[in-house]
Amino acid sequence: MSDNKVILNYDGKSFEYPIVDSTIGDRGIDISKLRDQTGLITLDLGYKNTGATISEITYLDGDKGELFYRGYPIEQIAEKSNFTEVMYLLLHGELPSTEQFSSFENNIKKYNFVADELKKLIDVFPRSAHPMGVLSSLTSALTAFNPKAVDVKSKEELDLAAELMIAKFSHLCAWTYRKTQGLPINHGDNSLNYVENFYKMAFRLPNEEFQMDPVVVAALDKLLILHADHEQNCSTSTVRMVGSAHTGLFASISAGVSALWGPLHGGANQAVIEMLELIEKDGGDVNKWVAKAKDKNDSFRLMGFGHRVYKNFDPRAKIIKKAADDILGKLGIQDKALDIAMQLEKVALEDEYFIERKLYPNVDFYSGIIYRALGIPTEMFTVMFALGRLPGWISQWKEMRLKGDPIGRPRQIYQGSPMRDYVDISKR
Ligand code: CMC
Repeated sequence: MSDNKVILNYDGKSFEYPIVDSTIGDRGIDISKLRDQTGLITLDLGYKNTGATISEITYLDGDKGELFYRGYPIEQIAEKSNFTEVMYLLLHGELPSTEQFSSFENNIKKYNFVADELKKLIDVFPRSAHPMGVLSSLTSALTAFNPKAVDVKSKEELDLAAELMIAKFSHLCAWTYRKTQGLPINHGDNSLNYVENFYKMAFRLPNEEFQMDPVVVAALDKLLILHADHEQNCSTSTVRMVGSAHTGLFASISAGVSALWGPLHGGANQAVIEMLELIEKDGGDVNKWVAKAKDKNDSFRLMGFGHRVYKNFDPRAKIIKKAADDILGKLGIQDKALDIAMQLEKVALEDEYFIERKLYPNVDFYSGIIYRALGIPTEMFTVMFALGRLPGWISQWKEMRLKGDPIGRPRQIYQGSPMRDYVDISKR
């Protein structure tokens, strides 16, 4: 290998592959000519070493535990910014001026309602339906009501589709929750900011005046910011993959919602609380459950621990842990689940198994505890994650479309049967 290329010796020949530079972090080997030149492809299960794109949106260093949105460290963003500003930053690449901020916020408010017919769709789901399944279906169904968002041809059309999606998705998130509670469905209130508007739409009761609690709004704002983007994770890669076929934005986001639902990804925040409740019910012996997590013959894993990229403390988990302490203190909540979480964290951080494998608490370990303290039901946690991740999904989709990335289409190494002749059913 020299500084700017890698040399591959194969079958008596030598091939050169250029190195693609980065601003910071991993550089890559451009192997786009590999198959044509050598007849070989690469195999990288789970894409642990594969760069799927070149991006300018989010940077994370898993060894150092660093996360930047458009170059700004997450710690500064979480402390000083707000979710609407973060959405703008991710989508447009720069922090907005005062005028740009108001214009963005006003554009979102223009679309702060959802076609009434969609209520009929939500009516047909059973109340017990998981909100993520309902959310994914409704997001895809939104396409029918906003056909322009299907076939975007310019940056302007793309930005319009993004603002529509941002406005309407918050309704769908609120509605899926209200469905599970049997509550009437509300439209937005344009006198409020994005997070307040969502909070009121989701949690307003029909029989009393709604009280906006600034502690809850600030906590929600911070959680949404922390989830806003995380480069090429499973759901974002899904959104990009679906969008690479020039599928519309809403249908691509709907696929991202489904990917996020899984317990190894966004569904982990729900799985963490379920695990803490299970440990509590079982008598609260944390050591027993840590031993189960380490046992290779037991499928149990400590939910909320470990990360594909972070081999250090997830910087979002550090911020969220502090926020969890503050919020529980402010709201005066004593939570047994939180006590168990703290014991689990301590045992796991001191245990050789977790240290060796660099398994630290991740963002989902603490986010569920905050949502629970805010009175949000467990099944809604992943919906909250989806609301936060939305600007990341859209920004990555927009970047891919504007750069004209080709359709995503991985190869495979086939190890099935070689060619054989069909045998009639009577002779099998
Ligand atoms: N509990 C016990 N052992 C674990 C855990 C865990 N939570 N996570 C990883 N390991 C072990 C795993 O068994 C393996 O051990 P060995 O080397 O002896 O075979 C080693 O650590 C490496 O694990 P891996 O599964 O190869 O790592 P991965 O990068 O493929 O998976 C992960 C990452 C997040 C899927 C995994 O750590 C996990 O399942 N964690 C629990 C679920 C979770 O909290 N997910 C949320 C992730 S953060 C938010 C998000 O992405 O949405």
